[in-house]
Amino acid sequence: MNITIVNFKGGVGKSMIAHQLISGFGFHGCEIDPYGSLSDRLPERVVRIDIQQKHLTQPMNETIFDFGGFDDVKLDQAMEYSDLIIIPFIPTLETIQGTVDTLMRVSSANKPILMVPNMSQKENDINDAKFVFEETLGFEIEMFALPMSVALQTAINENRSIIDLSQQGGIKAYAYKKSSNLIRALHEKIREYENL
Ligand SMILES: Nc1ncnc2c1ncn2[C@@H]1O[C@H](COP(=O)(O)OP(=O)(O)OP(=O)(O)O)[C@@H](O)[C@H]1O
Ligand SMILES: [Mg+2]
Repeated sequence: MNITIVNFKGGVGKSMIAHQLISGFGFHGCEIDPYGSLSDRLPERVVRIDIQQKHLTQPMNETIFDFGGFDDVKLDQAMEYSDLIIIPFIPTLETIQGTVDTLMRVSSANKPILMVPNMSQKENDINDAKFVFEETLGFEIEMFALPMSVALQTAINENRSIIDLSQQGGIKAYAYKKSSNLIRALHEKIREYENL
């Protein structure tokens, strides 16, 4: 299974999700972001694609394409190779337009799309965003929400999988349990799109 993670809006959690899927579930990574640090953090598992490069070579199985917060000529090719497109976004009014642009661009690839409202504070904001997206596109889209989580930020800072952190034992592991279960659930949701 290959997955494209994209949103032309920056800072929405694309690389966080890529990092956790790669470190926790054995995916490989393909970083298409000259400003990104995923390939530096997980050098054995992630290759960095030069920004000048116009094409992507056939990826290894189980590859995640992590794009920077901009459109890229290689996006079409990555989507072609992918079984699923994940669009993380922050459900606030100011950032929804950028996400709508991304959705419009991505929907032409005719691949399944999973939206991930990230760092959301209010259930209502998620429902409002869902409404806007579905009105714009004219079809239903599936969402999987991730709340703001200190545990996830810790996992990223320590360059660890939240799954590992939750299995280390002790009182700290307990604090990681909830986020760890959420990331597991996200992974299971993603697997529903395998071999569709
Ligand atoms: N659910 C979350 N809880 C806590 N921190 C989060 C969460 N999601 C993302 N972050 C943090 O927010 C910051 C921005 O996330 P990230 O770098 O993944 O965004 P991005 O979409 O890849 O940005 P860019 O477009 O610049 O590549 C990072 O420090 C990340 O660890
Ligand atoms: Mg990123």
